[in-house]
Amino acid sequence: MSFPKGFLWGGATAANQYEGGYNEGGRGLANVDVMPHGEDRFPIGLGQKLHLDFDADHHYPAQVGVDFYHRYKEDIALYAEMGFKVFRMSIAWSRIFPKGDEAEPNEAGLQFYENVFKELKKHNIEPLVTITHFDMPIHLIKEYGGWKNRKVVGFYENLVRALFTRYKGLVRYWITFNEINIILHLPFMGAGLTFEPGENEKQAKYSAIHHELIASASATKIAHEIDPAIKVGSMLAAGTFYPASPNPKDVLQAQQDNRNNYFFVDVQARGAYPAYALKAFEREGIVIPFEDGDKELLKENTVDYITFSYYTSNMSAHPDNLQSHEDASGNIIVGKKNPYLEVSEWGWPIDPLGFRTTMNEIYDRYQKPLFVVENGLGAIDRPDENGYVEDDYRINYLRDHISAMRDAVELDGVDLMGYTTWAPIDLVSASTGEMSKRYGFVYVDRNDAGDGTLNRTKKKSFNWYKQVIATNGQEL
Ligand code: BG6
Repeated sequence: MSFPKGFLWGGATAANQYEGGYNEGGRGLANVDVMPHGEDRFPIGLGQKLHLDFDADHHYPAQVGVDFYHRYKEDIALYAEMGFKVFRMSIAWSRIFPKGDEAEPNEAGLQFYENVFKELKKHNIEPLVTITHFDMPIHLIKEYGGWKNRKVVGFYENLVRALFTRYKGLVRYWITFNEINIILHLPFMGAGLTFEPGENEKQAKYSAIHHELIASASATKIAHEIDPAIKVGSMLAAGTFYPASPNPKDVLQAQQDNRNNYFFVDVQARGAYPAYALKAFEREGIVIPFEDGDKELLKENTVDYITFSYYTSNMSAHPDNLQSHEDASGNIIVGKKNPYLEVSEWGWPIDPLGFRTTMNEIYDRYQKPLFVVENGLGAIDRPDENGYVEDDYRINYLRDHISAMRDAVELDGVDLMGYTTWAPIDLVSASTGEMSKRYGFVYVDRNDAGDGTLNRTKKKSFNWYKQVIATNGQEL
């Protein structure tokens, strides 16, 4: 069994964790730049601790990332050597509009990404570009209150218009917001959202979410007007919630937790707020700031395809039954500990079969083409005396997940466009700011404190993945 002809194999990255060059080429400051490594990262990410600039007490890993800004040619050559058909990356918004509200884009920023896209084309690698991967220019947060303010939709429209126009013919696949649901869990890190003292946080989040959903639909409209060949996708941090037991209360809880996640894609893919959400908002007194024309815009501009990340499944227990379950760790969205699953070194449950279940659930729900744009294992790598990493643990994780994904395609009939691992090269961890949580096929010499040469070395998994791609997933 193998994958469909033309299946897009590759790897996924994000500007804030990879690119660096934070103060070069006229780039402005963004929320993701001021996220430090260390114990303050989490409260800052949650928006509990206001932190809108650098200070001398912290190390800020996004400033350098792993220096894609200067090393993109070397890295793209490595991806080409593995046979990549697609490469996922993101635009740093503040490289294109340094403050966010300028009338004209920054030419040096536009030129940088044009160079990257041309380099990819040279190697026959299709770019898959996330417009915002957690980032927002700091100026938009300070001056306008970020996504809570409807004006920011207009600034985002300026951004996408500049991108779609400049890269017409160079970039076909776009994603509007990375893991759009993460705004509920890490509002500052995931979307630049801050709160006033005493502010109703839930109201603030759903106002911001409405604006993001409008911006996403508007981007889809603009893309199709500029170039009908462009495909625009949504992106969800996925991973199905299992009920902790057949107790009907746990089952209902799992359904509700799943809906909290799918709510975003329900709007982006079906074109309207779902009934269960409208009822919940009414009960809780949450007012969605609808303006004239919003409903039509959402209805008429649904996404072309659905992308998602999958690292782990989750488990839900009703509040009455909570005490019988320990908390799990996970990809920011944290459920209960599933006794049937092993966990990674960071405590994330490992569940390849849950990957197939999640794919089926998403495909059943939306009936649109899917694209897996993140999946991988964060692990501690120990290079030998020659600097070589034998990462069989990573190969095993990916083999099991790709095999489950193949079943979803071959046995269940899911329409899947492609698969990009997180991440093809070691880069900064989003949740912890660590370098020691490594995902790559390529080792990068840099540690948590920011020391190291940044030199690249192929790991054992490099040749393994090369073979997976060469056989279109037949040899795992
Ligand atoms: C996803 C993000 O949440 O998971 C990535 O889109 C992130 O930005 C990835 O890096 C893995 O999470 P972490 O915290 O291990 O880097």
